[in-house]
Amino acid sequence: MSLNGAQVRCILTRAGAQFITPLTLSSLSGEKVYSELFSHTDKNYMDHIRLSREADLIVVAPASADILARMASGIADDLATTTLLASNKPILVVPAMNTLMWNNPATQRNINLLKNDSIHFVDPEEGNLACGEIGSGRMANIQEIVLKINSVLYKEKPLNGFKGLITSGPTQEPLDPVRFISNHSSGKQGHALALAAAALGADVTLVSGPTSLINPQGIETINIKTAEEMLNACIHSLPVDFAICCAAVSDWRPIKIQDQKIKKQSSKILDKSKTTIEITENPDILKSLAQLSPDKRPKLLVGFAAETENILEHAGQKLIDKGCDWIIANNVSLDSDTFGNDNNQVTFIELNSSGELEHEEWPKSSKNVVAQLLLKKISQTLVI
Ligand code: PMT
Repeated sequence: MSLNGAQVRCILTRAGAQFITPLTLSSLSGEKVYSELFSHTDKNYMDHIRLSREADLIVVAPASADILARMASGIADDLATTTLLASNKPILVVPAMNTLMWNNPATQRNINLLKNDSIHFVDPEEGNLACGEIGSGRMANIQEIVLKINSVLYKEKPLNGFKGLITSGPTQEPLDPVRFISNHSSGKQGHALALAAAALGADVTLVSGPTSLINPQGIETINIKTAEEMLNACIHSLPVDFAICCAAVSDWRPIKIQDQKIKKQSSKILDKSKTTIEITENPDILKSLAQLSPDKRPKLLVGFAAETENILEHAGQKLIDKGCDWIIANNVSLDSDTFGNDNNQVTFIELNSSGELEHEEWPKSSKNVVAQLLLKKISQTLVI
């Protein structure tokens, strides 16, 4: 399966096969799907031992209340539970179930038992559940699971003891109680950066504009709406060792926020014939951080440049104008499909020792991989 280059083998339980077919899993993983503990046709009777020995990590996802109970009791009555019991590798459990089943004392007791046995968890989110109810129990999003996998697998935490600030998502600049100026940023890239930084051991503050993403577990998240609120939250989070401004901050905001919904016919801001809105420039957060005194300025300050034309030239100019150390040029033209998508193609830009702009094109990959590449570069620079 294309999980950042990992080879993935799936074990499908009898209950799991009610939701997904072995064919789907084998086409996604490019591997045989395992389900039988004792197969009459298969030559290898010791699949459970081989599967657990050959894996670096076992992920149980989605984990039902039933499998949690069987794992907690050490029951091994099918291939999945036998492989888990025979494992000496890290195990990551990603529960998904109905809210009442999740909150049931028996389930919570089993979770505590498993946590005491050093089993790792990504807790479920609140939201719409498969059973039609709404509440906690929905499986965590894939981004969180992938980054938790990295955090469990890669024991090395080079950013341990380092503090990072990351901005993510759009800002919303209100015009009246119901309307605002904003943009298409989903927060996926910024949140992936926060999780990648935390996976390397950094103490991360994520300042996020309004997105549909859940605040990542274990990361201090400050939710804001406007650029001014984002600037205040960033300043409040200082000092930090590194900052990454990935948020798509609105460059402008309406000069006046109307207390009541603006009526079409009686608008004071909207001239009926011209429909103009008076706007003013927002503070530039990246530039403000760059201009701080050396004791307050992040040691390493990274911006993102969202461009639709002359990408490298405009991004390089932004690095110089805003005074950050690195800038990540991002094509956001209509055909790039960058906003809201899971993938991204970026170019890393820095000034070399002779003061010339140098760039390095990174391959198109998932936003998680872009985040990991950038955080790797940050850790290599900060950790001497
Ligand atoms: O959120 P996704 O859907 O995953 O999409 C990711 C992304 C495309 C939003 C992200 O990868 C990206 O490119 N972010 C930068 C968006 C942006 O506002 O670019 P810009 O070129 O307008 O600004 C340049 C830099 O200045 C950015 O670091 C920005 O955060 C910062 N800025 C801009 C304006 C402002 N008033 N204050 C700022 O700090």
